[in-house]
Amino acid sequence: MQKAMRSVLDGSTYVLVGKIGVFADKQGIKACIVGGMVRDIFLKRKTVDIDVVVLGDGMKFARLLADELHGAYKGFEKFKTAKIFLKNGRIDISSARSETYEKPAALPNVVLSGINEDLFRRDFTINSMAVSINREDFGELFDPFGGVSDLKKKILKTMHDKSFIDDPTRILRAVRFETRLGFKMEKRTLKLIHETLKRNIFDNLSGERIREELFIMFGEPSPLKAMLRLDSLGVLKKLSHGIRIDATAIRMFKNISASRSMIAGYGADAALINLMALLGGITSGAAGTVAAKLKLSNEQNTAIKQAKELRMLSEKGLAKTGKSRSDTYFLFKDHATEALLYLMLMQKDRKQAARIRHFLDKLKHVKIEISGKDLKEMGIKEGPEYTRILSAVMKAKLDGKANTREEQLKLVKSYF
Ligand code: CTP
Repeated sequence: MQKAMRSVLDGSTYVLVGKIGVFADKQGIKACIVGGMVRDIFLKRKTVDIDVVVLGDGMKFARLLADELHGAYKGFEKFKTAKIFLKNGRIDISSARSETYEKPAALPNVVLSGINEDLFRRDFTINSMAVSINREDFGELFDPFGGVSDLKKKILKTMHDKSFIDDPTRILRAVRFETRLGFKMEKRTLKLIHETLKRNIFDNLSGERIREELFIMFGEPSPLKAMLRLDSLGVLKKLSHGIRIDATAIRMFKNISASRSMIAGYGADAALINLMALLGGITSGAAGTVAAKLKLSNEQNTAIKQAKELRMLSEKGLAKTGKSRSDTYFLFKDHATEALLYLMLMQKDRKQAARIRHFLDKLKHVKIEISGKDLKEMGIKEGPEYTRILSAVMKAKLDGKANTREEQLKLVKSYF
């Protein structure tokens, strides 16, 4: 295991894992890496998130480790877990039951039962393996539930029958791992998902957690695959009845995936645009309900509403909204970049797509050469009139009728 860890983890992560192990030795505590990192080491996938389980008081250990590594500590008393935020990464620490445990590896049975118990509470067998990082047995694998064998068989197997009821976001995680890793859910796991879905699972789940899971999926290379799978399992309609992955949604998910670098270039959030695509086919009211359920921020909420309005406008014919530069500017100026990118990726009419791009690249950044200060100096009384005048100047500039400061001042004077 040590060899695999060295070859898959990048140098600094490997060193950090070793440091945590040495620190655990100093504290006389048993520590293992666990979960996704172990899975990804076997799959030879790059991984940086460090999940550590310690036998004993994980929160105390995390506080001390945070000091040692000059990181920021955040504890979650209820779950006996803690996070350490470092300059370039994060360590998650959880506590496993230790009871009579005294020294690292001194009581292997206690170690085993403590670790096993922790692993048993996890989601899938492939995520329920641990690897010791104490110096004495660094690299020793704990795989009591056949995780390695399931990794080889490429199957996703839940740990126990109540797993999805305990935590329904695991249904979303199951789909994420299926699509990300090209794995298949094992029969019993699938049956348990179907049984869980007969209940109103999302009612008792925090919106933040559903949103987090959805957004992680939107960040994966193929959100479309995951969305199709969620749709066929009947998960999406639990979010809102009308949600379907129809032809338009499919086209949109594909377009968004193909345009990732362009979206990033605009500093926009691709996950939010994917969410717009997901909610594209339902009414504004229903989309609003989903947005509230997912506890979106005000900005995200507004962007979703704007996407809906722009889609309606587009269905009526975007070309009808005018041709001039100022028409385009005033149509789009108050919209979130994500809503505009959604509209752009929606367009079958190339001219209209180019028009939106022109706005984002050029028109959005146009500034006029005069300001409210000039209006004041001209003796115009301050008030809402200023916005009207400055907008008129902007319109003139965009349409090539008042390019210089002199021309713009002259235009203002002509109003009075
Ligand atoms: N876990 C769980 N149930 C959940 C979430 C997490 O049992 N609902 C456990 C799993 O053992 C998982 C570990 O906590 O491997 C870490 O969770 P997380 O970091 O969210 O996921 P990863 O499995 O690391 O996946 P990713 O690579 O996407 O981060």
